[in-house]
Amino acid sequence: MHRIKVKINGKDFEHDVEPRVLLVHYIREKASLTGTHVGCDTGNCGACTVIFNGQAVKSCLLLAVQANGAEITTIEGLAGDGLHPIQKAFMDKFAIQCGYCTPGMVMSASALLKVNSDPTEEEIKEAIEGNLCMCTGYQQIVSAIEDAAEKMKG
Ligand code: FES
Ligand code: FES
Repeated sequence: MHRIKVKINGKDFEHDVEPRVLLVHYIREKASLTGTHVGCDTGNCGACTVIFNGQAVKSCLLLAVQANGAEITTIEGLAGDGLHPIQKAFMDKFAIQCGYCTPGMVMSASALLKVNSDPTEEEIKEAIEGNLCMCTGYQQIVSAIEDAAEKMKG
């Protein structure tokens, strides 16, 4: 067992974890933040995307022990009192169907808009290229991120 300390959504967590535990399972099971989804567990789908020290990462590709000392934001940490503008835009633009990919998509979009407030369509597509959606196609998702960028600028 290894003792880790990690800050998730501004809250400190400290647990003993086995070295084999993936970060996504730590987040869901130890921190009880089940908004981060598990799709493939192999780095292919992006459902598990969180923001890790400012960067969008697939949390199934990291071990929990690698997060010792890190700051992480999950989908639960994005909204304040109401929905975050990216979440609202996903609803407004019909970019959600089953919702399985949505937390990961939103976190990738959030990481993009933090460093680029006015992304081109190409830049949006690049930012979400590691996130797969089986339902909507991608046009509504790209439109939602464009809409969120516009609203967040204003
Ligand atoms: Fe991590 Fe699919 S669950 S990429
Ligand atoms: Fe169903 Fe994207 S909305 S996988």
